[in-house]
Amino acid sequence: MPVIARVMKFTAIIVAAGSGSRMGSDVPKQFQMLGGKEVLVHAIDALLPHPAIEAVHVVIAADQERMAKAVLGDKSVKLVIGGETRSQSVRNGLAAVETSHVLIHDAARPFCPGTVIDRLVSAMETHDAATPMLRSVDTLAQPHGALLGDGVDRETVIRIQTPQAFRTNVIRDAYEGHDGAPTDEARVAAAAGIDVALVQGDEMLDKITTPGDFARAEALAGQTMIPRTGMGFDVHQFAGEGPVMLGGIAVPHDKGLSGHSDADVLLHAITDALLGAVSLGDIGLHFPPSDPTWKGADSEKFLAHAAKLVRDMGAVIDSVDATLICEAPKVGPHRAAMQQNIARILDLVPDRVSVKATTTERLGFTGRGEGIACQAVVNVRMK
Ligand code: CTP
Ligand code: MG
Repeated sequence: MPVIARVMKFTAIIVAAGSGSRMGSDVPKQFQMLGGKEVLVHAIDALLPHPAIEAVHVVIAADQERMAKAVLGDKSVKLVIGGETRSQSVRNGLAAVETSHVLIHDAARPFCPGTVIDRLVSAMETHDAATPMLRSVDTLAQPHGALLGDGVDRETVIRIQTPQAFRTNVIRDAYEGHDGAPTDEARVAAAAGIDVALVQGDEMLDKITTPGDFARAEALAGQTMIPRTGMGFDVHQFAGEGPVMLGGIAVPHDKGLSGHSDADVLLHAITDALLGAVSLGDIGLHFPPSDPTWKGADSEKFLAHAAKLVRDMGAVIDSVDATLICEAPKVGPHRAAMQQNIARILDLVPDRVSVKATTTERLGFTGRGEGIACQAVVNVRMK
């Protein structure tokens, strides 16, 4: 008799309905960009391709629906509305599951190695529940107020991670008899008397809770990305009356700059550098001067669009450096405002943006005061 392997099919529930209060940021951590894509998208992309996973349910808060839809685009996941606590969010997710088995995972753990899912699936051949765990390498102890209390034998404790695997009806039944708001389901199952198999977890699965965790996760995500540099150059001729637009700031000057748009030579050079960093052509290709749409246009639109194109390719913008080349107007008094404004448009912290200026010692067209030139360099990281 041939042995017919029973294939277990899992629904992955990814809980993403939290507010991330300990991160202290405006946008909840699961919707923040981490190494080119949102934390939640990392979590989904780590689970969705696994052959044992048939469906992915993402549990979000009611007021996050619009943000989630924008972030998830046409990813084949089902959105479920969560609850006040993590465990209520899980309960809501469980109610929508149709498969015999389920994996329950935190969106705040963006990097899930496929090997951990393999271990969970194989543990589920013989158990109704399984969780990844790590042993502590640090010495452990209890605090006694602000002083050191008794030691805890580190061999007696383990760290519990997600995703956790369950037979769907087993975890549903376990939750039925459970009140309170546990922080994971393995605990719920164990409390209901179910044997929970332990499999080896992975430090890649550490949860993002604080800004420090986020920085560590960024470093991990960045390890697999390659730095790329883009350069941009632009010139506009003086004509008519001032002011001149430089970096989105109206700088008083007796002459203006001529151009099809608002002739912001600084924003144009940075736009070209951004496009160059990801090999997406140049500003003329994306915003043809022949197109009347761009007549007199605010160059902020060009820069913001280029930044979006770069990020849509999964790239992270690291830094911008630009040099304005002119005898006048004096850039120094406006430099900080330009830096702040460019950082705002690019959604960067201001110290990642540098604006410099030089003259050409009265030589050449800039030296004769015929126009302004600008060079820019942009650094990005990309897979
Ligand atoms: N979660 C959820 N529903 C809630 C609370 C939390 O789906 N009502 C999710 C979070 O989005 C996260 C996971 O549960 O993916 C783990 O929770 P935690 O790290 O505590 O996230 P937050 O609750 O968002 O953060 P904080 O506790 O700092 O507010
Ligand atoms: Mg929480």
